[in-house]
Amino acid sequence: MVAAGRRYDIPAYTEGWFQIAWSRDLAKGQLRKVKQFGREYTLFRGQDGKVGLIDDVCPHLGAHFSEGGSVQGNSVRCPYHAWEFDRTGTCTKIAYAKKIPKKAAVKSHTVVEKHGMIFMYRDKAGSTPQDAALPPIYDFDERNYLEPKTFEFNIRIHGQDIMENSVDSPHFWAVHGHAMPTNAFFTERDELRVDQTSSVHRFGQELHFKIEFHMAEPGFHYLHFPRLPGGAKAFVFSSIVPVDEEYTNHRITVMVRKTPIPGYSRVLQKFITWQMMKTYREDMQIWEHKEYHSRPVLCDGDGSIMKLRKWYAQFYEPQDDAPPSTAKRSPALGVLASVD
Ligand code: FES
Ligand SMILES: [Fe+2]
Repeated sequence: MVAAGRRYDIPAYTEGWFQIAWSRDLAKGQLRKVKQFGREYTLFRGQDGKVGLIDDVCPHLGAHFSEGGSVQGNSVRCPYHAWEFDRTGTCTKIAYAKKIPKKAAVKSHTVVEKHGMIFMYRDKAGSTPQDAALPPIYDFDERNYLEPKTFEFNIRIHGQDIMENSVDSPHFWAVHGHAMPTNAFFTERDELRVDQTSSVHRFGQELHFKIEFHMAEPGFHYLHFPRLPGGAKAFVFSSIVPVDEEYTNHRITVMVRKTPIPGYSRVLQKFITWQMMKTYREDMQIWEHKEYHSRPVLCDGDGSIMKLRKWYAQFYEPQDDAPPSTAKRSPALGVLASVD
């Protein structure tokens, strides 16, 4: 049920894949607390290099693993009485017990590491996806790209509003100073895609660009710049994860393709990162204070707001007062239905 007095009258949480960390932030033998979806998890990397994600609360006497716990081999050791739990959540060791109780287990979650990011699968029922593959990023081979530049914000906004921003054509003109963009909006393969052409005045000249926005998941969309000057290409990964019913964590990863021109891709990467942070800050002030209108007054130039909302709604977690699910999408990353 949507709680009374909430800022949004849509469900706070969605179901799917969510980036919860960058790979480089978790070395072998490290663990850290992850706060998402109003809960706390322990994310860790075993000595075998593989990542695990378990609930943060020990089933024994309730200590939080992430508050003083450690990684032993490929398991997490609780700081209180040193019970150990592996990646599946099974208790593997109690140093002072003859027998490990059957119920000594903690809930584990599916995690996948790809392109330097760590993703978890999350739905309300806590299910394990039958197919652990992530949505693909088309035309991307990370071996041809520079090391990423990244930044991250914690903001008071619903993730749907962040995605909606990508299809909100006139705000690019009014807020970010771009020429009024033209958008082509369609469903393709398993995703919703928007092709935007526009220009922006920088360095005394008009820079024309095309951006493809690929909406893959409620927690993940990416921008593809397929034709940049000098034969370069770039991707910007946008990862959106609810922290709780009020705040959202937004991670941005900027990837630029290497080119034969010395230093050029690095300069381009700096420029795109700077430009992204600039536009982000411009949006942020509005985002943190705006209200959500489920039936907004729109004009003919507003474009694709309601299409985006219709697509996004299929990922809302089931509501307690709703009729049995008619979800268009299986928890195993099934094919999205068309929104047209
Ligand atoms: S509370 Fe975790 S081992 Fe006792
Ligand atoms: Fe924006």
